[in-house]
Formats: sequence, C-alpha cells, structure tokens
Amino acid sequence: MKVPDFLKSYNNNTKNLLKAHDEKKAMSLAVGGDFEAAGLLEYYLLLQQGLKPMDTVVDVGCGSGRLAYQLRDYLSGLYVGIDIVPELFKYAERICNRPDWKFYTAPGLKIPEPDKSADFICFFSVFTHLLHEETFRYLEDASRVIKPSGKIIFSYLEFAIPSHWFIFKNSLSDRNPDKVLNQFISRDAIQSWAEHLNLSVIEISDGDKPHIKFSDQKLVRWDNGMEMKGKGNLGQSVCVLMKK
Ligand SMILES: C[S@@+](CC[C@H](N)C(=O)[O-])C[C@H]1O[C@@H](n2cnc3c(N)ncnc32)[C@H](O)[C@@H]1O
Repeated sequence: MKVPDFLKSYNNNTKNLLKAHDEKKAMSLAVGGDFEAAGLLEYYLLLQQGLKPMDTVVDVGCGSGRLAYQLRDYLSGLYVGIDIVPELFKYAERICNRPDWKFYTAPGLKIPEPDKSADFICFFSVFTHLLHEETFRYLEDASRVIKPSGKIIFSYLEFAIPSHWFIFKNSLSDRNPDKVLNQFISRDAIQSWAEHLNLSVIEISDGDKPHIKFSDQKLVRWDNGMEMKGKGNLGQSVCVLMKK
C-alpha cells in the first residue's frame, strides 16, 4: 500500500489553488475558506480564554493567517506562526505587516520556542490532519513551551458530533492516495494524552453549539452567507488544556 505524502498534497493543493484563483481567494481556500469568519471566531475564542495584548501567541499550522490577520492590530506581544507550507505563512506574514512577529517552517513535530514562553499555543484545524502519534508529539512539546498560566487550544473532529460525519463520509469516497488526512479524535484519547503529559483538560466545547461569545455589535459572516451575532462556533469542537 502506498504511504500518503501529506506534505506533497498540501504543497500541490496550494499551487493548484493559486493557478485557479486570485491570490486572496486561493489563500483562503487553502485553509478551508471562510478567511474572515474563522479568523474572527479563533480570535474571539482566545479573548474569551483570557488573551491580553502583551501575550505571546504560538500558532502551529498557522496557514495563510486567518488568526494572525485578526490579531495584527490587537496583539502588541509576540506572535509566532509555524506551518509546513511556506507559501501560506509567507502570505500571512505579508498581510499582517508585523516585522516584530515570527513566521517559519515547521521543523517536524517540534515547536522550537523557549521553555515556558507562550501564553497561548493554538492548533486550529491542525490535529484534524495529523496521526494521533503526531498530535501527541506536538502536545508534548507544547507542554514544554507553554507558561504555567498559559493555555493550549486545539480544534478537532469527533464522531460524537453528528455534523462531523459528512467529513468522514467525503473522505471515504475520496480514493486519491495523497489526499489530506481527516483525522477524528475521541474525548477519551484527549483525556489520556492530557494525563500522560501532566496537563488538565480545562474545557471541551461541542463544535455544533455556539460557545464563543462576542459583542452583539459584531457580526461574523461565513462565505455561504450564514451570519452569527453575539455568539458563534467554529464547527470543529474545541479543547483547552493547561499545565497541572
Ligand atoms: C485547515 S488549515 C488551518 C490553518 C489555520 N490554523 C487556520 O485556522 O486558519 C491546516 C494547516 O495546518 C498545516 N499543517 C499540516 N500539517 C502540519 C504540521 N505537521 N505542522 C504544522 N502545520 C501543519 C497546513 O499546512 C495548513 O496550513
């Protein structure tokens, strides 16, 4: 059986999107679309979890910058964007125009930042594309880099949420051997990983229920026209971890 080459598929996917669309559209589609809506909800989620302007945020699998773009005027502290596709994080770096921030290629399943240096480490829609062993390795290094008061936040797919089924179904019918992996994670796996890494599961939010609060004056508009006011959700479930 052929071993899928995820890196090749990510790079090819980005290149094909850039051939078929203008740059802005391609850079949005490369991370799943909804550049503004998903970025805003990720940003509001961090605020809800206590993000402060001076904080350090490490965004693993930052893609083309959905979160970074929303943080660019708020965050005076350091933002570190790491991804395996240079075209994506270089675009993020350009649109954010924050020379004090860092963007670089993911060096394997490590986060090459100092011990206890980050207030937030995010993996939005990243563990959805990794094997469980890879996710565990990332969480292991995140538990080194996170401050004792910091939070590790990741979004994920799970069979417990009925609206996630269509992703599994689409994956089943896609016979491309180099397709991007869609990985589901169970809550008992999360609990077990947390215990083995000396982390506590602080919060788990169902992906299909609005749990991210924001001002009633603000509107989150998805590419399909759907609007969220005052409260929203990313679709994927969200887990928040802290050091014990
Ligand atoms: C669905 S996109 C999400 C991007 C971003 N987190 C966001 O919410 O807009 C998944 C991203 O993870 C990146 N990625 C996949 N495997 C990775 C890995 N092992 N390390 C770092 N990034 C990875 C992909 O290149 C892609 O940009």
